[in-house]
Amino acid sequence: MNEIKNNTVLSGVQPTGDLHIGNYLGAIKNFVSMQNNYNCFFCIVDLHAITVKQDPQILKKNTLEVAATYIASGIDPKKSIVFNQSSISAHAELAWIFNCVTRMGWLNRMTQFKDKAGKDKENASSGLFIYPNLMAADILIYKATHVPVGDDQKQHLELTRDIAQKFNRDFNCESFFPIPEPIIDKDISRIMSLKNGDQKMSKSDPSEYSRINLLDESDEIIKKIKKAKTADIVMPEKLQDVTKLSEINNLLNIYSGFSEIDKQKLITKYKGQNFSVFKSDLSDILVEQIKPITTEIKKLMQDKGYLQEILQDGRNRANEVAQKTINDVYDIVGLFRNET
Ligand code: TRP
Repeated sequence: MNEIKNNTVLSGVQPTGDLHIGNYLGAIKNFVSMQNNYNCFFCIVDLHAITVKQDPQILKKNTLEVAATYIASGIDPKKSIVFNQSSISAHAELAWIFNCVTRMGWLNRMTQFKDKAGKDKENASSGLFIYPNLMAADILIYKATHVPVGDDQKQHLELTRDIAQKFNRDFNCESFFPIPEPIIDKDISRIMSLKNGDQKMSKSDPSEYSRINLLDESDEIIKKIKKAKTADIVMPEKLQDVTKLSEINNLLNIYSGFSEIDKQKLITKYKGQNFSVFKSDLSDILVEQIKPITTEIKKLMQDKGYLQEILQDGRNRANEVAQKTINDVYDIVGLFRNET
C-alpha cells in the first residue's frame, strides 16, 4: 500500500556519553517502529549538549556514536532523516525568535532546569535556561505533529505547544505551526536505576551498576542484572501489587520492553518464585537483543566516513524543509532576508 504520510515525527537524543537501555527503550526503539507510518526526523542534539560543559573531541565522537546507535538499532537512513542539529543553522535562528516569544514566567516553571542547575543556579549557563526554546525550534522548524519523548520531557513539549500557539496568535497566522502531540509510553519511557527504583536510569549516575549501557559486554550485563536490587520476597501475583515495588516493577518494564511480552503474563509466569530464575531469563533476553546492536555500533564506529556521509545526506534533506520554514518565519515576523 502506498499511503501518503501526512504526519511528521521529530525526536532528538543528546550526544552526551554512553547510551543505556533507558535511552533505547524509552526513545530509539520506538523511533524504529515509527519509520513506516510517519515522515521521520531523528536529530542528534549537539547544541543542547553544550548547555553544560563538554570536551570538544569527545563531543564529536559521541555525536557519531549516537548516529551509529540509531543505525545499529534499525533506523534506516534512507527512510528517515538522520542529522545533527548544529549542521542546520535554522534551528538556532528559530530558537532566537522563540526566545522573544516565550515568557520568562514559562521558563521559570521548568522543573528540568531546576534539577540540572541544582543549588548553583547563578552559575548555570543561560543556554541551559533557554534550552526548551531550542527544543521547540527543533520540533517546529519541521512542523512536526508528533514527538516521541520520555516522561521527563513532557513539560518541555507542553511549552512547545504554548510557543506554537502564541506565535500563531501573535502574528495572526492561524495554524502556521501545528500543535505537536507527545507520544509517551508511560511504562517504558521511565526506565529506572537498577539500584534505586525511584531514580531515573541516568548516564550521570556515578554507579555503573545503576544502568546497562548499549556497549556493555554480555558478562557485564549478566553481572549487573544479578546485582540489581529486588526484595526478599517472591514475585507477587497481581499487577497492582507489583506497581508498589519500584525496583521489581522496573525490571518487569525492562523485561516487557525487550521481549514485548505483556507484564501481567510475565507476572503469571514467575509468580511465587524468588527472583533468580526471573533474573537469569531477563539477562538472557537482554544479551540476545543488545549484543547485535553493540556489535553493529562498534563496527560502524570503525567507519567514521560512512557515518559522516549519513549525517551529510540527512543534513541536505532536513535543510530543505528547515529553510522553507525559517524564510516564512522571517517574513511573518517582519525581518528582511536577502535570498541568495
Ligand atoms: N531534551 C531532550 C532530552 O534531553 C532532547 C531533545 C532536544 C529533544 N530536542 C528535542 C527531544 C526535540 C524531542 C524533540 O531528552
